[in-house]
Amino acid sequence: MNDGIHIRRALDEDLMGLAAITLDCVAGGASIGFMETLTLEQSAAFWQKCLESAGRSERIILVAQDADSDVLVGTVQLVMAAPENQPHRADIAKLQVHRNVRGNGIASKLMNAIECEAWALGRHLLVLDTVTKSPAEGLYLRLGWSKCGEIPKYALWPNGEYCSTTVFYKDLADRSPVTRADCERNDDVF
Ligand SMILES: CC(C)(COP(=O)(O)OP(=O)(O)OC[C@H]1O[C@@H](n2cnc3c(N)ncnc32)[C@H](O)[C@@H]1OP(=O)(O)O)[C@@H](O)C(=O)NCCC(=O)NCCS
Repeated sequence: MNDGIHIRRALDEDLMGLAAITLDCVAGGASIGFMETLTLEQSAAFWQKCLESAGRSERIILVAQDADSDVLVGTVQLVMAAPENQPHRADIAKLQVHRNVRGNGIASKLMNAIECEAWALGRHLLVLDTVTKSPAEGLYLRLGWSKCGEIPKYALWPNGEYCSTTVFYKDLADRSPVTRADCERNDDVF
């Protein structure tokens, strides 16, 4: 499955595919910024803003696409830190993989690709947060991210209950030297 997955930057025409992935993740109970009342239209409105922001180079949006069916199955974002004194920093956000294809290494592949995008832009210090004790927490630890700590009651699950968040960081500059060719191979560079 993973071998037939193509990772690339999102295009405007990916709008509804992205909206469908978010709708599926929220329907599956993921706490990613939305409540369980989310509709496809609301999800599309969110992604429209993200794509516009990417058009202003404020963020990079990657998609994972099934090479056989062309269906989008996952996504992740690199959001540039805005302050003038943080030109080396960015946030990783909205890592999502459709429930039908989880456990095939697609999120790992997306993370490796977005870290390569960050490295190429000189954004070597990356920060993210995720629901405490979620499957994503294990994923980030496995990918070499460092845990900073937990914030209780940080957000809500889609059903309205509180969930804690765990904050992680990763300094890509701590890794061995990485070349553009390493990243283009796209197999666990960082
Ligand atoms: C978290 C999430 C993105 C992971 O996506 P995924 O594509 O299933 O992730 P991966 O397959 O790369 O890794 C998940 C697990 O599958 C395992 N795995 C990887 N490749 C595999 C394969 N070929 N076969 C079976 N299992 C595999 C990994 O070991 C990993 O387990 P571990 O992290 O506990 O060690 C997905 O569950 C999701 O979208 N959740 C909802 C949204 C969300 O919570 N996002 C995080 C926001 S911060």
